[in-house]
Parts: sequence; structure tokens; C-alpha cells
Amino acid sequence: MKDQIRKQIQSAISKLYPEAADIDFTVEAAPEATGADYASNVAMVLAKKLARLPAPEGAADGGQGMKPMDVASVILNEVKDLDSSSPSAPQNDKMSVTVAAPGFLNFTLPEDTLHKNLREIIQQGEVYGALPSKRQEKVLVEYFQPNIAKPLHVGHMRSAIIGDCLYRTEKLFSETVESDTHMGDWGTQFGLLLYAYRQWGDDAVIEKDPINELNKLYVRINEEIEAKPELREAGKAEFVKLEQGDKENRELWQKFVDWSMERFLRINDLLDISKFDHHWPESFYEDKMPAVLDRLKKEKLLVESEGAQIVDLDSYKLGTAVIVKSDRGTTYLLRDLATYLYRKHEQGFARQVYVVDNRQSHHFKQLFKILELLGEWKAGEGAHVEFGFMSLPEGAMSTRKGNVIELDEVVTKAVEKAKTIIAEKNPDLRDSDKVARDVAIGALKYFDLSHNRKSDIVFTWDKALSFEGNTGPYLQYTHARLKSILRKAGKSSGSNPGYKFDHQIERQILGMLTQYAWKVEASGMPNILTDYLYDLATKANQYYQEVRVLQEADEKLRAPRLALLLAVSQVLKNGLYLLGIAAPEEM
Ligand code: ARG
Repeated sequence: MKDQIRKQIQSAISKLYPEAADIDFTVEAAPEATGADYASNVAMVLAKKLARLPAPEGAADGGQGMKPMDVASVILNEVKDLDSSSPSAPQNDKMSVTVAAPGFLNFTLPEDTLHKNLREIIQQGEVYGALPSKRQEKVLVEYFQPNIAKPLHVGHMRSAIIGDCLYRTEKLFSETVESDTHMGDWGTQFGLLLYAYRQWGDDAVIEKDPINELNKLYVRINEEIEAKPELREAGKAEFVKLEQGDKENRELWQKFVDWSMERFLRINDLLDISKFDHHWPESFYEDKMPAVLDRLKKEKLLVESEGAQIVDLDSYKLGTAVIVKSDRGTTYLLRDLATYLYRKHEQGFARQVYVVDNRQSHHFKQLFKILELLGEWKAGEGAHVEFGFMSLPEGAMSTRKGNVIELDEVVTKAVEKAKTIIAEKNPDLRDSDKVARDVAIGALKYFDLSHNRKSDIVFTWDKALSFEGNTGPYLQYTHARLKSILRKAGKSSGSNPGYKFDHQIERQILGMLTQYAWKVEASGMPNILTDYLYDLATKANQYYQEVRVLQEADEKLRAPRLALLLAVSQVLKNGLYLLGIAAPEEM
């Protein structure tokens, strides 16, 4: 709907003011008080732009000196007959457009469009929101990339939760979307770990609690380095040996990987995250690096600098990109170059989405720039979906310093809380253990996703485990409540060919339902979707309070009202699904 309005405006401008066709305007949901569905600021932007343009030769009035309200009227005239139907179509088939101070254009959808959308939601059910014909390209979403031998803490939650949301959303638009965890199992830190293991490691101890014990070794070597910096060199040397295929180092390293992998893959169950289609760790691309080096050399991009091999990106304000270090150890960047190219050419991914926190923004800018210089990257083909860093009220989490909250602990606490509430409020609930988990996970995921993705967030128990207000459990509860009403209503619910509504609030909800599609498209920013679902749920609850539904005796009124509730419950369910949150039928 929103796109359609945009297009109409765009073509009106191209026709009326071709010299200003490149302006950047918005189409948004209209404020509730206007009674309209969508509003655009186009006239205000256009008035400003026209004021700056010289009058075209010979034109009586190119629009210079026009007030936004006047410009709005001119555009209004052009887009009045919006909608696919002919001018002779009945009134309830046409979009109405009005001008509002200081120059907004307000669009009100015709009843027919609203009813058609309502019918579509009910008919399409779980697939409502997906593109009817999906794009054929193959897309990879890479998320949850923990480093081997480090415990999982709440900070790791973000990439897993945001990534899963994006993965689910991409599937609405593209036929083939695959996910990959890309665990970090290669790099200098494993050299340090190898060194530490040889010094202080004890298999009998490690086997009991591998990740924590390996982490202790890693913490210890880092502490020792502070007193004896030369130990870092020893660690680096171990990594170089590992890269060059030293048998003993390989075997040890493999042991670390196996220990960790098994533990990490529990994330899917722990957080109820979609199963990963692939787990190709960093080391998978190890033997693909030499070819990239050759190519960089051939294209004359690689230069020697203080013993290291670098790509100079200074002219792009991206500094120096180190490809191979002076000790001949390969870099994270080289691995990512190899990874990108392999995925593109051997695995056929036309688009790659990297869900990684914003501390790596520079890294990904360098990566995409080098790929561009190789003729391998265009805007949109690879994207860093960055997110803000999660910290604790007392500061950054650091495994090394031991101030972390482990992921298991968070989930356990959330489930306990949900169980207590269920035992109080609904002790006879069926499947109560399952529902408690769904609610707990719902609270955690929603906490994360309802923040602007790009902002840093502070983890507090209070907020992460909140079940009221703008939270996951509130949406789950609203959905379950609507479902229970529909169950009570029995068969008749929603099966009505001609809808008739007579309340203002029904009109508002119908209008909101048309927004779902573009709120979903914006799910690169999941908080746009969470805010929308929250508003919708709040409106639906208000509706049920103000308007009789089950008690309405007149079937002609009752049926459309039930249809409306059915559609809201479906949109809530579909939206929650995209967020990775289950929508229990009963709570
Ligand atoms: N394992 C890396 C880290 O923890 C993140 C990997 C992100 N993905 C990538 N292709 N570079 O820093």
C-alpha cells in the first residue's frame, strides 16, 4: 500500500516538476488524529527544493515561491484518482486524498481495499506477508559466530536473535535463504591457547567442563603476557605452526574445536533459534586463502609494508588493510575475503548478510571495498547488518575479567519466572512447561529486538525478564486471548463474505492491518516490527473492551467483528514468528 502511494506521488512529480524528480520524501502511517491511513511530507520537501531551483526558461511559473500548501494542492489534483480503478468507479473503491497544514498530503484507503486486505489475511493465514512470487536469488544469512573455547554469555544473544529474525524475514522475499554460524576457530588466539595448554593443560580436568577450562587457560595466558610480553610471540609462533600444518598442533586444535562445537550447537535449543543450515567455521576457508593472495597480487593490490602484506585503502579513507602479518600469519580479513568469494562462486550465494556487532564495521568496510576493487562486490550483494554492543550496568562484559552473565543462567531464570506466574494465574494450563519456556524466550528475544538494532544496549535482569507493557509476553498473551475468544465463538468466526463495520476503532484496526507488509520489510530493523505489533495488540485489547463481540446477538455485526479479531490474531502470530517468538494458543 505504502509503496503504491509512493509510486503514484513519484509519477505525479515527474510529470509536474521533472526538474525536482530526485527529491527524497517520506510516506508514513498518518497520525491517528488525522483519521487518515498514510501521510506524506512530499509537498514540503518539494516546495523547499523548487525555491532553490532557477525558473525554467519561458515557464510562467516553475513553482518557485509556492507555499507547501499550494504545492500540496497541485500534487493532490494529480494523484486524486489514485488506485487502479477508473474514475467512474464507485466512491468506496477510491483512495481519498486531502491536504493538511502545514503541507501534508493525507491518504485514506477505500473501504474495499481494507476489506480485501482483511480477507487476504484470513485466507492466506501463515503465509500472509510473504511475496507471492519470491526472488530466485540464493541468500546467505550468517549469524551467531562465537569463538571456540569461550563461554557463551548474554552478549552472544544479540547476533543469534537478530540473525534468526533476519533469516526468517528474508525467507518471505527470497526462494532460497540459508543460514551459517561461521564459528571462529582460526587465528592467533588459538596459538595462544595451544601454548597455554602445553604449559598448564590437563585433559582430565578439561574434559569435565571443556569450554570453561579452556577459557581459564586463555585467561591465564593473557594475564601472563602482561608480565612477560614475549609470551605473545610464543603464542603467535604456535599459530603459524598450526597454519603450516604441524601435526601435533592440528590434533590439539581439533580437540578444542570438537569440545566447543558440541556445546555451541546447543544454542538452537537453548534459545529456540532455527536450526542452522550450515556450520562452516572459519577454518573451512583456510585452504582457500592462497588463491585470494594470488589474485590480489595479480591485480596489483597487494603491497609489502614493514614485512607485512597489505592493501592500501587510504584513498578511500579506510586506512591500511593487513592481509598477511609480518610473521606470515594470515589475518581475519584474508579469511573473510576467501569466505566471501567461495560462497559467491562455489556455493552460489548472490547475496550475503553478515550479522555482526558494530565494533567490526571498519573490518567489513575494508572487506567490501577490497572486493569491489576486485570487481566482486556491488552495493546490496554483501551487507554488514551491524548491531550495538550489549553491556552490563557496571560496564562491558569480559570473559577475561570474569564479569559476564552466562546465557544458560539467563534462560533458566526467565523460565523460572514464567513458571511462577503461570502457577499463580493459570494453574490448570495444559502444557504449562512448554508455555513457560515459550514465554521466557519470548521475553528475552523481545527485549533484544525491541531496541533499535544499532544502539548499544544495557542488560538488566529487570528489563530482560519483563512480562508487562511493550514486551513479548504481552503480545503472546494478546494473541492467546484472541484465540480463546475465537474458540468460544465456534465455527462462525470470520467466515463472512461482506463485511460491515460501524465503529471508528474498527476502521483504525483495518488501516493498521494494511501496514503489516511494510513493517515486515523494515525488519532489517526489528524494532519497527515490535513497535507495530505492540500498537496493534493494544488497539485490539481496547477494541475488545469497548465493542461487544461474543455478546453481540446480531450475526451480521458479530461475524465481521470476529473476522477482525481473527485477522489481528493471525498478524500477531505471523509477526511473532518473524521475531522467533512462539505464539501459544493458550496462556
Ligand atoms: N568470530 C568473529 C568474532 O567473534 C565474528 C565473525 C563474523 N563473521 C565474519 N564473517 N567475519 O569476532
